[in-house]
Amino acid sequence: MNDDNRSGRNDTYTLTDNRHGQQVELPVAAGTDGYQVIDIRGLYDRTGLLTYDPGFTSTCSCESDISFIDGKQGILRYRGYDVEDLVARADYMDVCYLLLFGDLPNAEHKQIFRKEITYHTMLHEQIYYFFRGFRRDSHPMAVLCGVVGALSAFYHDALDITSPAHRTLASYRLIAKMPTIAAAAYRFSIGHPPVYPDNSLTFGENVLHMMFSEPTEDYHIDPAMTRALERFLIVHADHEQGTSTSTVRMTGSSGANPFACIAAGVASLWGPAHGGANEAGMVMLDQIGSKDRIPEFLARAKDPNDPFRLMGFGHRVYQSIDPRSRIMRDTCHELLEELGVHDDPYLDLALELERRALEDEYFAEKKLYPNMNFYSGIILRAMGFPRSMFTALFAVARTVGWVAHWNEMIEDPTRKISRPRQLYTGESKRPVKPVQERI
Ligand code: ACO
Repeated sequence: MNDDNRSGRNDTYTLTDNRHGQQVELPVAAGTDGYQVIDIRGLYDRTGLLTYDPGFTSTCSCESDISFIDGKQGILRYRGYDVEDLVARADYMDVCYLLLFGDLPNAEHKQIFRKEITYHTMLHEQIYYFFRGFRRDSHPMAVLCGVVGALSAFYHDALDITSPAHRTLASYRLIAKMPTIAAAAYRFSIGHPPVYPDNSLTFGENVLHMMFSEPTEDYHIDPAMTRALERFLIVHADHEQGTSTSTVRMTGSSGANPFACIAAGVASLWGPAHGGANEAGMVMLDQIGSKDRIPEFLARAKDPNDPFRLMGFGHRVYQSIDPRSRIMRDTCHELLEELGVHDDPYLDLALELERRALEDEYFAEKKLYPNMNFYSGIILRAMGFPRSMFTALFAVARTVGWVAHWNEMIEDPTRKISRPRQLYTGESKRPVKPVQERI
């Protein structure tokens, strides 16, 4: 019988092994919210069998109390707070503190935390040589992967992952330096000098300042842009075991240093099926070009022989509206209004594409809805970010989620190195022939 009492229940799941006429009882556990899980940890020892689940469609890899998704109802919560509530009543620094420490900060803790983060916004001067070493036309995500990984060469004083103090310091450094690195990657790509952070600004304001200000001119930070960017940062801050977060956890499970782990997360995020979808979505809107071509592209998206997919549509977990996409869509409308843009061709096209896709049987049947990348690109474009920076900004926002999960993973007493097995389908044993006898 199951003695796992986390849920206050003693449920078990019985597997019948028809090969040996045996029955195996497995414990069933439940979290505070969400689904129940069959705990298969003892399965191999008891049956000699492994489970097979490519893409982890039915697998929970860990326990976590950081964020929660209900994919059927379209709910996302950070530490129990609905993301909509956080967007309305908190700022990104609140959310960073919440994800790292478990609850929202009071005024005093917030001030101390803000100071801790801003203290680390600058980069070691020598890091700027890395930027000079990249080709001018490098994609900012390529630069980000390299430079974030390189941070471990600069911070030997905080690489002891068993030390909570080291872990906190590394976490602060990563959250604080990520915008500086991302903005510098952009500045080098356009041949402009990097802009140093200004610690009198908020996190979001600093992003805008380092991206868009020039040493020769005053730069006015538009509050409408800061508001939109804050929302972008909050909704992108965490998303339970998404691909990049799982990558960070898996990389860290071997004891790798935090900078290397987050560089792995950045690399994973870049893929178009994950964070790269915000950039790919804009490329797609360009490809479609006008409303009259939407049917052609919907037909392509539905064609099993065509690799084309509607970028910014679909999600492994959400089988209803992604709550973040609603926030991004509303933010998009508000921002364009505030910027005095009354007719944005990208928004126009995106709205029509969304409308037609949602009316289409294929998308309804497969429960494919817009995810947050569908609208976030339009917001970032309206703010003046080049599309090559879209995924880098996602990485800036998600760094806090990555480090929160990395810390949780290190502190988990049941932590083991992540080491999946495989279903081997290659050759069975065969002898090596002398080279003359090989065909
Ligand atoms: N356009 C057209 N068809 C789609 C789309 C899409 N965007 N997404 C899924 N489908 C179809 C698939 O072809 C598949 O059809 P089938 O059952 O007939 O083979 C079915 O829906 C299920 O798709 P899977 O790829 O098996 O679903 P999975 O959960 O593995 O993938 C993913 C989810 C990767 C997000 C997928 O929906 C996708 O590629 N979307 C476009 C890229 C994108 O927007 N990614 C961002 C996700 S959000 C984020 O990471 C921050």
